[in-house]
Amino acid sequence: MGSRIAIIGTGYVGLTTGACFAHLGHHVVCADIDRARIERLSNGILPIYEPGLQEIVEAGIASGHLRFVVGAAAAAKDCEFAYLCVQTPQGDDGAADLTYLQQAAAEIASVLPAHAVVVNKSTVPVGSTKVVERVLGRHDVSVVSNPEFLREGSAVSDFLKPDRVVIGSDDPSAATRVADLYSTTSTHLIVTDPASAETIKYAANAFLATKISFVNAVAAVCEAVGADVNDVVLGLGYDKRIGHEFLRPGPGWGGSCFPKDTRAMVKIAEDAGYDFNLLKGVVVVNDEQRERMVAKVERAVGGNLDGAVVAAWGLTFKANTDDLRESPAIAIITELIARGAIVKAYDPQVKSHPTITVGADAYEVCDGADALVVLTEWDEFRWLDLAEAKRRLRGSSIVDTRNLLDRSAAIRLGFSYQGVGR
Ligand code: UGA
Repeated sequence: MGSRIAIIGTGYVGLTTGACFAHLGHHVVCADIDRARIERLSNGILPIYEPGLQEIVEAGIASGHLRFVVGAAAAAKDCEFAYLCVQTPQGDDGAADLTYLQQAAAEIASVLPAHAVVVNKSTVPVGSTKVVERVLGRHDVSVVSNPEFLREGSAVSDFLKPDRVVIGSDDPSAATRVADLYSTTSTHLIVTDPASAETIKYAANAFLATKISFVNAVAAVCEAVGADVNDVVLGLGYDKRIGHEFLRPGPGWGGSCFPKDTRAMVKIAEDAGYDFNLLKGVVVVNDEQRERMVAKVERAVGGNLDGAVVAAWGLTFKANTDDLRESPAIAIITELIARGAIVKAYDPQVKSHPTITVGADAYEVCDGADALVVLTEWDEFRWLDLAEAKRRLRGSSIVDTRNLLDRSAAIRLGFSYQGVGR
């Protein structure tokens, strides 16, 4: 049993979607234009680090449920479902650029079997389902929006145990067929029109970014009034209407989604005649948060970054990924360097970087540094020996932008400790 699914695009979303559908028993063919990438994938060599993905890709290849081919048409020619998982980068005006999506649709238009369903998985502006329908120009093929809510670092479990599945379509039978693909995940199913499904995706990311900017703003207030944001969040989160999730203060949100999607939603609203001031404010708070972190490091090294030596723990935009896209860590380090600091960074997943010096271990980068700054919430940083870090450092300051380390232990060791909002 199982359906025949073509996945167009083997980026982070496409690969996870394809491997997980194969794991659920479907027959999946993943396509990409990058020949070398397809060759590596066929041999089980993954271009990204994502917990659990390697195992299900290998199992899918071994069972014959997962194959990789070059070119969208080769994958789509025998499929019942074609998932468009190509990137939708941010265009110059903030709107998502649909070039890759349109190219993929054009490439499969003539080979799709009759009654196939084309599914938009890429994050696309409201109205894109219609765009794909126009490019396909096929009356016997339905287009459905089925946005993804995967988080990097937990994408496989997010896919297999989703909070909900959202399906947007004007064709009830196509919607039911897509819903059936997820039947074994037993989750909430929201079937709606395409515009609503597309809006759910943007609104979800915009709301999550709002929560984080909100807590970062509250953290700034906490610093000013002498409160501890960790306790404030604890007190907030037990209110079921608020919850604890996505209220971790930090150096600001980054990654491949929130920065792009918040700007896109501001643009979508603007084009539709609504000035989304609230969301613009959310973006401003996020930009300010990075500057606030740079100012903390400046204080930690005695007020002048020029010539200061800084050890940085963490480069990725969050833990459990190797993704550096729009990473606050990179933005903050880049600014420190621009102000004259000498930075040496360590990250469990990143071993080199074009503009930042990367050391081989967490202690080594501390050698002779004036301050240690924690930028990504890697669990392993929690368990590092701060006494050893202290012996290696020249100074005795910690800036913990993730409130990750044991503050009391650091202070006991003689560190001066700055967290966020406490
Ligand atoms: C995000 C959404 O969480 C997913 O639901 C969505 O599918 C995905 O974007 C997407 O659109 O593809 P992701 O970008 O992988 O997932 O990462 P998140 O876990 O959401 O974190 C985003 C940023 O917010 C990171 O920089 C993280 O460190 C920061 N963050 C997150 C905080 O600063 N505080 C928090 O409490 C949570």
